[in-house]
Amino acid sequence: MRQPVAVLISGSGTNLQALIDAASAPDYPAEIRVVISNRRDAFGLQRARDAGIEALWIPHRGRSRAAFEAELLEALSERSVSWVALAGFMRLLSEAFLSAYAGRILNIHPALLPAFPGVRGARQAVEYGVRIAGATVHFVDAGTDTGPIILQGAVPVLPDDDDDTLAARILTIEHQLYPRALALATSGQLRIEGRRVGLPDGEPGLLWSR
Ligand code: GRF
Repeated sequence: MRQPVAVLISGSGTNLQALIDAASAPDYPAEIRVVISNRRDAFGLQRARDAGIEALWIPHRGRSRAAFEAELLEALSERSVSWVALAGFMRLLSEAFLSAYAGRILNIHPALLPAFPGVRGARQAVEYGVRIAGATVHFVDAGTDTGPIILQGAVPVLPDDDDDTLAARILTIEHQLYPRALALATSGQLRIEGRRVGLPDGEPGLLWSR
């Protein structure tokens, strides 16, 4: 049975699109059952509708985190969702939410963690002067971008890069990483061992791109 996944977004949803495209293959182990945004104008909601996937807006403004998360959890449970993929979802999740989906929440971050957690990973990399940047798919824990790492993808930082050109290069590798990581997770091929994630034989866990 394909694992029912909810994708949580706040914005454009190019990673969501990569997941939608991957999940359209009949042998992909996950099915995107619902896309939820905390922002009504997130373009990713339109991407979901265009793909025939239910798109929900659950606002966070003007209410407590507990109330917001309770509505989220109810929406997930009503749809029998087993896995949650955060894809540009700009809200932190509390322990209560995390424990409801323990070991079943993934996130993608535009930096080679543990470097440059938090917002604007590409800008942090350019400002720091690193020569290699990239993206990380990880399990979500209570910290900000601190959970066990599943896959990482590396890209060069070129001398003329600014935040935008580097972020665009990182995004192209994100779109390869996330479908692969979600497939590994939802097909039961990953084992969380402390902060390390055990991968199946032959999976290097690493992508390079120019
Ligand atoms: C990506 O860079 C992702 O790594 C970060 O937020 C951005 C979302 O982009 N968490 P998109 O909405 O998937 O285009």
